Amino acid sequence: MSERKKIAVLISGRGSNMASLISASMDPSYPAEIALVISNKPGAAGLERAAEFGIETATVDHTEFSGDRQAFERALDEKLKARGIEFVALAGFMRLLSSWFVTQWRDRVINIHPALLPSFKGLHTHERALEEGVKLHGATVHFVSAEMDDGPIIIQGAVPVLEDDTPDTLGERVLAVEHKIYPKALALVASGRAKVKDHRVAIAGEDTEQAGPVLIWP
Ligand code: GRF
Repeated sequence: MSERKKIAVLISGRGSNMASLISASMDPSYPAEIALVISNKPGAAGLERAAEFGIETATVDHTEFSGDRQAFERALDEKLKARGIEFVALAGFMRLLSSWFVTQWRDRVINIHPALLPSFKGLHTHERALEEGVKLHGATVHFVSAEMDDGPIIIQGAVPVLEDDTPDTLGERVLAVEHKIYPKALALVASGRAKVKDHRVAIAGEDTEQAGPVLIWP
């Protein structure tokens, strides 16, 4: 087996996507190992969850840097490099990363967003999807650029929007898809099959036989 890539997951909250990555990485044939979980929020529930899995955790509290984003990001960068981290997966990490950080980690940071990008960047995606009356909604895993919720798309998963959905019911349906696509996206990136080319992601060895409509709704 080729060597597993060392991953850090950055969180700010409950860490359900982090847990889905950790669970996937328990399979020895998975190409990535979650070596470190960092939260910018002390006491984030995800930290405890990671520790229960036996994963090393750290906190880099952004409020301790008196508004100096560069200093916060340098502290993050140092922790990642000290642990030999090769790729970073953002999972509900609620800080924007500057172009300095993104350049340091070019094509090595991925994020999950609860909408089909480029629609519904930012917060409250489920409320906004319901307001707009879209029939399909979903989640996206993408490489991170210095723009919010932007960057080459690796995977998207779609769900139908049902007549009686509330932001919560729709959000639950999307979250279930997030937990499926994030481990798949990380595997594609860590194994080197997903590569950025001209601001788009090319996936090596994808089974094009299966191409066709995956979800049409209603
Ligand atoms: C997820 O919906 C993710 O897409 C978004 O923030 C939420 C984090 O949830 N970026 P969790 O902490 O992974 O449970």
